[in-house]
Amino acid sequence: MSGQLKGKHFITLRDWTNDEINLLLDVSSDLKRKFYMDVPTPYLPYKNIFLMFFEQSTRTRNSMEAGIAQLGGHANYLDTSTMQISHGESPKDTGIILSSFGHGIACRNCFWEIGNKYLNEMAKYASKPVMNLQCDLYHPMQGVADLMTIKEKYTSTKGLKVSIIWAYAKSHKKPISVPLTQALLFPRYKMDVTLAYPDGFELPDWVIEEAKENANKYGGTFRITHHLEEAFREADIVIPKNWGSWSSKYPNVNIEEFKDWKCTEKLMSIASKDVSYMHALPADRGNEVEDAVIDGPSSIVYQEAENRLHTAKGVMALTL
Ligand code: CP
Repeated sequence: MSGQLKGKHFITLRDWTNDEINLLLDVSSDLKRKFYMDVPTPYLPYKNIFLMFFEQSTRTRNSMEAGIAQLGGHANYLDTSTMQISHGESPKDTGIILSSFGHGIACRNCFWEIGNKYLNEMAKYASKPVMNLQCDLYHPMQGVADLMTIKEKYTSTKGLKVSIIWAYAKSHKKPISVPLTQALLFPRYKMDVTLAYPDGFELPDWVIEEAKENANKYGGTFRITHHLEEAFREADIVIPKNWGSWSSKYPNVNIEEFKDWKCTEKLMSIASKDVSYMHALPADRGNEVEDAVIDGPSSIVYQEAENRLHTAKGVMALTL
């Protein structure tokens, strides 16, 4: 790897090489160790980042706000419903103006077929880096935290059997950005990835093609199944999580038909002996997953959530 990452946008991990992601993980691990030892890390003194949220958040907002404070900078939290965006102000104007006031802009906009375009439009005109806090397509902050969590637990990611599994939920229609990001990223780290879902919940065709290309290029594998048990059998890591049906091919998909797509102790018993249960959170307890699993010994969800802080700091320290 050559060159600095200062000024680089963080909209999708597709734009970051493996070397760049590895550097980000190294920096994040270093920040984690220093956080544990109360070693100050004022790498971004007086720097300012604007955090624009079109939707609710617990982990993402607070990892960014706490993270920039711990790096010596400051965050402006912006509920976009209180901004002139509500009166139609363009992403171009918002991007130019906010980037002239500070050192970076981060934004969550998950509206289907809008969010990613909005971020890219801001990035086109902003004079400072733009970070994606989740859009309709990608959640790179979650993706790197997931990768860090996996690398902390396993000595090698090569050949790890990781199953990204659709799960039933009642809470709300969740974006496809988390499974999409994982499907593209994990084969780049030589994992053997299984994507499992019932009809109507596929990811876009280009994602599947690229996930397979990544597997071929980097030495992982990628396959799809529609059988829940097959996804759990002998898996090292399971990531059962709801996502919404987005395809116009399935306008009448009835989620109630798939209530049995739940992560249960019984299903966990057919996975590998040392299986890990992961979830980006928030989880729909009782629907996506049984309490006994998410609160049980296989669950690494709190480590995964905590790593959102360290990786958010890593992204900001490298790019702002
Ligand atoms: N995983 C995640 O992005 O959580 P929040 O929606 O709480 O930010």
